[in-house]
Amino acid sequence: MAAKHQAPRGTYDLLPEEAGVRARILAEANVLVEGAGFGQIDTPVFEDTDLFVRTVGEATDIVRKEMYTFTDQGGRSLTLRPEGTAPVCRAYLEHGMHKLPQPVKLWYMGPMFRYERAQAGRYRQHAQIGAETIGSDDPAVDAELIDVLAHLYSRLRLPRVRLHLTSIGDPASRAEYTRELRDHLLGRDVFDADQRARIEINPMRAFDWDDPEIVAVTDSAPKMVDRLSTADAEHFDEVRRLLDGAAIDYVLDPRLVRGLDYYTRTVFEFRCDALGAQSGIGGGGRYDRLVEQLGGPPTPGAGWATGLERIAQALESVAAESPAARATVRGRPDFYFIVGEPRARERVFRAVSELREEGIGATVDLGARSLKSQMRQAERLGAPWVVIVGPAEWEREAAAVRDMRRREQDEVSLSRLREELKSRAA
Ligand code: HAM
Repeated sequence: MAAKHQAPRGTYDLLPEEAGVRARILAEANVLVEGAGFGQIDTPVFEDTDLFVRTVGEATDIVRKEMYTFTDQGGRSLTLRPEGTAPVCRAYLEHGMHKLPQPVKLWYMGPMFRYERAQAGRYRQHAQIGAETIGSDDPAVDAELIDVLAHLYSRLRLPRVRLHLTSIGDPASRAEYTRELRDHLLGRDVFDADQRARIEINPMRAFDWDDPEIVAVTDSAPKMVDRLSTADAEHFDEVRRLLDGAAIDYVLDPRLVRGLDYYTRTVFEFRCDALGAQSGIGGGGRYDRLVEQLGGPPTPGAGWATGLERIAQALESVAAESPAARATVRGRPDFYFIVGEPRARERVFRAVSELREEGIGATVDLGARSLKSQMRQAERLGAPWVVIVGPAEWEREAAAVRDMRRREQDEVSLSRLREELKSRAA
């Protein structure tokens, strides 16, 4: 029987299996982001409409056609938040955080609402994890934010993620560049009337259009990154030096366009090949004018957000080829113990219990399966370490510790096992 009611178009119910994946993503993000010194903030899901109109920008798709705006019983115009940066900056000012030692580092997670054309990877309610560093224009802030997000993807064992990076400078040089680009584009006759109208509003959007004829025109068009002021160019160079130093790979992408107006200087987007058309898995940048636009003192800031559905979807789609990604999808122990010597059972059981006490995931196969099938089970679970106590190891009062990723193995004495495994799990 067809249900009478269904979840609204573009929304979904998170059922237990997917909720488990989400919980693991959030747990990883929590440890990483808090470890990088960000404190959590939780703002309301709706805000005054004007907050988004002012900051996200009147000419953007989000404000023009994607906001869930309503009038409440008191006649106020409210909007379900389409993004988290403007609310966090609002809260930063409202709670006088500009008086605290700067920068202030905040992170958040929660639902965002955009009336978008629903399709795979694009929802009308989606969930984001975001991080914002407010109160410093140091290029190290940009680099740290990017580094943390890159590490989030690698800790989730998400392969095939590429970082696209560019700088869009300050509003003055961008206004000058926009005029130059508009003249350049409108001088070509490859655009239809609708596209010409959009170029009038924001010519940078043309970089998003993928008709080959248009790509040829935009490829040869001047790029913002070549029109930066000296200060902005130096800022961008330093961001890049820091990323190079930290061995964070990126593609310099002068065609990168973000869908929000508040950005200045550094902008970036992480894309994942496993995602298909909606390949943007996370993105962000610097927004040095946003707090001021909200009536605060001039306060630089930068941040990012990443979509939880897209991370989960990317992990699912690579799970078949990557045991590590599969582990994030299904959950996994760090240490999988194999007992090949019956006399070792109690000692191994104790070792597993001790690891749990340390907060480390560990399990032991107590069923009397063959060594081979236990190894297969460890592999299936995606355990990065397998600890084997067979008759020979037992005689030597030791355990064989196998690094499943490097396919290497060494021996550790049972008396040192707890300390040794603890240091390897770290
Ligand atoms: P955004 O690029 O619009 O940036 O969104 C961030 C991420 O949210 C995207 O990379 C994508 O993974 C996910 N996302 C966006 N829209 C949808 C959708 N309709 N369905 C599913 N996932 C979606 C921002 O929102 C900025 N506030 C990021 C930021 C923080 N910039 C500076 N600080």
